[in-house]
Amino acid sequence: MLVELADIIKIYNQGRVNEVRALDRVNVTVEQGSMVCLKGPSGSGKSTLLSIIGCIYPPTSGRAVIAGKQLARLPDRFLTIHRRQTIGFIFQHFNILPKLSVLENIVLPLMPLGISPSKRRAMAGPLLERYGIDHRRDFPAGEISGGELQRVAIARALINDPPVIIADEPTAHLDSKLSRDFLHSMVELKGEGKTIIIASHDPLVTEDGGVDMTYAVHHGRVSQDVS
Ligand SMILES: Nc1ncnc2c1ncn2[C@@H]1O[C@H](COP(=O)(O)OP(=O)(O)OP(=O)(O)O)[C@@H](O)[C@H]1O
Ligand SMILES: [Mg+2]
Repeated sequence: MLVELADIIKIYNQGRVNEVRALDRVNVTVEQGSMVCLKGPSGSGKSTLLSIIGCIYPPTSGRAVIAGKQLARLPDRFLTIHRRQTIGFIFQHFNILPKLSVLENIVLPLMPLGISPSKRRAMAGPLLERYGIDHRRDFPAGEISGGELQRVAIARALINDPPVIIADEPTAHLDSKLSRDFLHSMVELKGEGKTIIIASHDPLVTEDGGVDMTYAVHHGRVSQDVS
Protein backbone atom coordinates (compact mmCIF):
# COMPACT_ATOMS: atom_id res chain seq x y z
CA MET A 1 0.00 0.00 0.00
CA LEU A 2 1.26 3.45 -0.86
CA VAL A 3 -0.88 5.11 1.78
CA GLU A 4 -1.90 3.46 5.03
CA LEU A 5 -3.80 5.51 7.57
CA ALA A 6 -4.95 3.72 10.70
CA ASP A 7 -6.95 5.30 13.50
CA ILE A 8 -5.98 8.81 12.48
CA ILE A 9 -7.07 11.68 14.69
CA LYS A 10 -6.32 15.29 13.77
CA ILE A 11 -7.15 17.99 16.27
CA TYR A 12 -6.52 21.65 15.47
CA ASN A 13 -5.79 24.04 18.36
CA GLN A 14 -5.75 21.22 20.87
CA GLY A 15 -6.66 22.26 24.40
CA ARG A 16 -7.85 25.72 23.37
CA VAL A 17 -11.40 27.07 23.13
CA ASN A 18 -11.21 26.91 19.36
CA GLU A 19 -10.27 23.22 19.35
CA VAL A 20 -11.55 21.31 16.29
CA ARG A 21 -11.47 17.55 15.89
CA ALA A 22 -11.13 17.54 12.09
CA LEU A 23 -10.46 13.79 11.69
CA ASP A 24 -11.78 11.18 14.06
CA ARG A 25 -10.38 7.63 13.94
CA VAL A 26 -9.90 7.52 10.19
CA ASN A 27 -8.78 4.44 8.27
CA VAL A 28 -7.81 4.87 4.64
CA THR A 29 -5.63 2.83 2.30
CA VAL A 30 -4.54 3.74 -1.20
CA GLU A 31 -2.97 1.23 -3.52
CA GLN A 32 -0.02 2.28 -5.63
CA GLY A 33 -1.08 3.20 -9.17
CA SER A 34 -4.73 3.72 -8.28
CA MET A 35 -7.00 6.75 -8.39
CA VAL A 36 -8.92 7.57 -5.24
CA CYS A 37 -11.58 10.22 -4.64
CA LEU A 38 -12.42 11.74 -1.25
CA LYS A 39 -15.89 13.22 -1.33
CA GLY A 40 -17.91 14.99 1.31
CA PRO A 41 -19.48 18.32 2.24
CA SER A 42 -17.61 21.50 3.07
CA GLY A 43 -15.83 21.30 6.40
CA SER A 44 -15.98 17.50 6.57
CA GLY A 45 -12.19 17.07 6.68
CA LYS A 46 -11.12 16.38 3.08
CA SER A 47 -8.33 18.97 2.91
CA THR A 48 -7.09 17.94 6.35
CA LEU A 49 -6.89 14.34 5.17
CA LEU A 50 -5.04 15.43 2.01
CA SER A 51 -2.59 17.42 4.14
CA ILE A 52 -1.71 14.32 6.12
CA ILE A 53 -1.44 12.12 3.02
CA GLY A 54 0.58 14.95 1.45
CA CYS A 55 3.07 14.92 4.35
CA ILE A 56 2.35 18.56 5.23
CA TYR A 57 1.93 17.65 8.90
CA PRO A 58 1.65 14.43 10.90
CA PRO A 59 -1.65 13.44 12.55
CA THR A 60 -2.32 14.22 16.21
CA SER A 61 -2.40 10.47 16.75
CA GLY A 62 -2.67 7.28 14.74
CA ARG A 63 -0.42 5.58 12.26
CA ALA A 64 0.19 7.28 8.91
CA VAL A 65 2.54 5.52 6.52
CA ILE A 66 3.08 7.35 3.22
CA ALA A 67 5.33 5.76 0.60
CA GLY A 68 7.08 3.64 3.19
CA LYS A 69 7.67 6.34 5.81
CA GLN A 70 5.76 6.66 9.07
CA LEU A 71 5.07 10.37 9.43
CA ALA A 72 5.16 10.62 13.22
CA ARG A 73 8.69 9.22 13.21
CA LEU A 74 10.04 11.84 10.79
CA PRO A 75 11.53 15.05 12.19
CA ASP A 76 10.11 18.15 10.41
CA ARG A 77 13.10 18.52 8.12
CA PHE A 78 12.78 14.95 6.87
CA LEU A 79 9.02 15.28 6.50
CA THR A 80 9.69 18.20 4.14
CA ILE A 81 12.24 16.21 2.17
CA HIS A 82 9.91 13.21 1.96
CA ARG A 83 7.09 15.49 0.78
CA ARG A 84 9.23 17.04 -1.95
CA GLN A 85 10.29 13.64 -3.24
CA THR A 86 6.91 11.98 -3.04
CA ILE A 87 4.04 14.40 -3.62
CA GLY A 88 2.94 16.69 -6.44
CA PHE A 89 0.18 19.13 -5.43
CA ILE A 90 -2.63 20.62 -7.49
CA PHE A 91 -4.72 23.18 -5.59
CA GLN A 92 -8.26 24.49 -6.00
CA HIS A 93 -7.26 27.80 -7.53
CA PHE A 94 -4.14 26.14 -8.91
CA ASN A 95 -2.09 28.53 -6.73
CA ILE A 96 -0.38 29.98 -9.75
CA LEU A 97 1.59 33.16 -9.18
CA PRO A 98 0.21 35.54 -11.83
CA LYS A 99 3.27 37.77 -12.19
CA LEU A 100 5.71 34.91 -12.70
CA SER A 101 6.00 33.38 -16.13
CA VAL A 102 4.51 30.00 -17.00
CA LEU A 103 7.98 28.47 -16.90
CA GLU A 104 8.81 30.04 -13.52
CA ASN A 105 5.55 28.71 -12.08
CA ILE A 106 6.24 25.19 -13.31
CA VAL A 107 9.72 25.03 -11.82
CA LEU A 108 8.71 26.50 -8.43
CA PRO A 109 8.90 23.13 -6.62
CA LEU A 110 12.53 22.84 -7.75
CA MET A 111 13.59 26.15 -6.18
CA PRO A 112 14.51 24.77 -2.74
CA LEU A 113 16.55 21.97 -4.30
CA GLY A 114 19.45 24.07 -5.59
CA ILE A 115 19.00 23.00 -9.20
CA SER A 116 20.60 25.35 -11.75
CA PRO A 117 18.36 27.54 -13.97
CA SER A 118 19.45 25.70 -17.13
CA LYS A 119 18.71 22.30 -15.58
CA ARG A 120 15.32 23.62 -14.42
CA ARG A 121 14.49 24.75 -17.95
CA ALA A 122 15.55 21.39 -19.33
CA MET A 123 13.34 19.57 -16.83
CA ALA A 124 10.34 21.76 -17.72
CA GLY A 125 10.79 21.37 -21.50
CA PRO A 126 9.06 17.99 -21.99
CA LEU A 127 6.16 19.03 -19.74
CA LEU A 128 5.63 22.32 -21.61
CA GLU A 129 5.48 20.25 -24.80
CA ARG A 130 3.29 17.53 -23.39
CA TYR A 131 0.69 19.95 -22.06
CA GLY A 132 0.69 22.23 -25.09
CA ILE A 133 1.92 25.35 -23.29
CA ASP A 134 5.40 25.70 -24.75
CA HIS A 135 4.31 28.75 -26.76
CA ARG A 136 3.26 30.38 -23.48
CA ARG A 137 6.43 29.61 -21.52
CA ASP A 138 7.50 33.24 -21.10
CA PHE A 139 4.02 34.72 -20.66
CA PRO A 140 3.02 35.97 -17.21
CA ALA A 141 0.77 33.21 -15.82
CA GLY A 142 -1.87 35.84 -15.05
CA GLU A 143 -2.39 36.38 -18.78
CA ILE A 144 -3.18 32.85 -19.98
CA SER A 145 -6.51 31.03 -20.34
CA GLY A 146 -8.19 28.88 -17.70
CA GLY A 147 -7.44 25.69 -19.62
CA GLU A 148 -3.79 26.67 -20.01
CA LEU A 149 -3.60 27.52 -16.31
CA GLN A 150 -4.94 24.08 -15.46
CA ARG A 151 -2.23 22.48 -17.59
CA VAL A 152 0.45 24.66 -15.95
CA ALA A 153 -0.77 23.34 -12.59
CA ILE A 154 -0.47 19.74 -13.79
CA ALA A 155 3.01 20.37 -15.20
CA ARG A 156 4.12 21.94 -11.92
CA ALA A 157 2.85 18.94 -9.95
CA LEU A 158 4.89 16.67 -12.23
CA ILE A 159 8.14 18.65 -12.42
CA ASN A 160 9.79 16.57 -9.73
CA ASP A 161 8.38 13.30 -11.11
CA PRO A 162 6.68 12.40 -7.80
CA PRO A 163 4.90 9.03 -7.50
CA VAL A 164 1.80 10.64 -5.94
CA ILE A 165 -0.40 13.47 -7.25
CA ILE A 166 -2.76 15.13 -4.78
CA ALA A 167 -5.47 17.42 -6.10
CA ASP A 168 -7.75 19.46 -3.81
CA GLU A 169 -11.01 20.46 -5.54
CA PRO A 170 -9.23 20.70 -8.90
CA THR A 171 -12.40 21.14 -10.97
CA ALA A 172 -14.10 23.70 -8.73
CA HIS A 173 -13.42 26.59 -11.09
CA LEU A 174 -13.59 24.75 -14.40
CA ASP A 175 -16.47 24.25 -16.82
CA SER A 176 -17.47 20.67 -17.58
CA LYS A 177 -15.31 20.41 -20.72
CA LEU A 178 -12.17 21.52 -18.86
CA SER A 179 -13.10 19.34 -15.89
CA ARG A 180 -13.25 16.32 -18.19
CA ASP A 181 -9.94 17.30 -19.78
CA PHE A 182 -8.42 17.51 -16.32
CA LEU A 183 -9.75 14.08 -15.31
CA HIS A 184 -8.54 12.63 -18.60
CA SER A 185 -5.04 13.88 -17.78
CA MET A 186 -5.24 12.23 -14.34
CA VAL A 187 -6.36 8.90 -15.85
CA GLU A 188 -3.48 9.12 -18.30
CA LEU A 189 -1.02 9.67 -15.43
CA LYS A 190 -2.55 6.76 -13.55
CA GLY A 191 -1.83 4.67 -16.64
CA GLU A 192 1.81 5.67 -16.26
CA GLY A 193 1.87 4.33 -12.71
CA LYS A 194 1.18 7.50 -10.72
CA THR A 195 -1.11 7.32 -7.71
CA ILE A 196 -3.81 10.00 -7.86
CA ILE A 197 -5.76 11.27 -4.87
CA ILE A 198 -8.50 13.84 -5.49
CA ALA A 199 -10.70 15.60 -2.95
CA SER A 200 -13.86 16.84 -4.57
CA HIS A 201 -17.58 17.27 -4.17
CA ASP A 202 -17.97 17.46 -7.95
CA PRO A 203 -20.01 14.38 -9.05
CA LEU A 204 -18.20 14.47 -12.40
CA VAL A 205 -15.05 13.18 -10.71
CA THR A 206 -16.65 9.92 -9.63
CA GLU A 207 -18.98 9.65 -12.66
CA ASP A 208 -16.40 10.19 -15.34
CA GLY A 209 -14.65 6.88 -14.72
CA GLY A 210 -11.07 6.30 -13.77
CA VAL A 211 -11.70 6.42 -10.02
CA ASP A 212 -10.94 3.05 -8.44
CA MET A 213 -12.16 3.82 -4.96
CA THR A 214 -14.20 6.56 -3.32
CA TYR A 215 -14.12 7.46 0.36
CA ALA A 216 -16.99 9.44 1.86
CA VAL A 217 -15.94 11.99 4.48
CA HIS A 218 -18.52 13.24 7.03
CA HIS A 219 -17.75 15.22 10.16
CA GLY A 220 -14.22 13.88 10.25
CA ARG A 221 -15.28 10.25 9.85
CA VAL A 222 -14.41 8.33 6.71
CA SER A 223 -16.11 5.33 5.16
CA GLN A 224 -15.61 3.45 1.96
CA ASP A 225 -18.25 4.56 -0.53
CA VAL A 226 -19.82 1.63 -2.34
CA SER A 227 -22.71 3.47 -4.02
N1 LIG B 1 -5.77 25.33 10.18
C1 LIG B 1 -6.93 25.08 10.81
N2 LIG B 1 -7.12 25.47 12.09
C2 LIG B 1 -8.28 25.21 12.74
N3 LIG B 1 -9.31 24.53 12.20
C3 LIG B 1 -9.18 24.11 10.94
C4 LIG B 1 -7.98 24.36 10.17
N4 LIG B 1 -8.14 23.81 8.94
C5 LIG B 1 -9.38 23.27 8.94
N5 LIG B 1 -10.00 23.43 10.12
C6 LIG B 1 -11.34 22.92 10.50
O1 LIG B 1 -11.32 21.51 10.36
C7 LIG B 1 -12.53 21.04 9.77
C8 LIG B 1 -12.21 20.31 8.46
O2 LIG B 1 -11.70 21.27 7.53
P1 LIG B 1 -11.19 20.87 6.07
O3 LIG B 1 -10.60 22.08 5.48
O4 LIG B 1 -10.37 19.65 6.16
O5 LIG B 1 -12.60 20.51 5.35
P2 LIG B 1 -12.92 20.25 3.81
O6 LIG B 1 -13.73 19.01 3.75
O7 LIG B 1 -11.70 20.34 3.00
O8 LIG B 1 -13.89 21.49 3.44
P3 LIG B 1 -14.07 22.26 2.03
O9 LIG B 1 -14.90 21.33 1.16
O10 LIG B 1 -14.84 23.49 2.41
O11 LIG B 1 -12.72 22.54 1.46
C9 LIG B 1 -13.42 22.26 9.58
O12 LIG B 1 -14.27 22.34 10.71
C10 LIG B 1 -12.43 23.41 9.57
O13 LIG B 1 -13.04 24.59 10.06
MG1 LIG C 1 -11.04 21.60 1.47
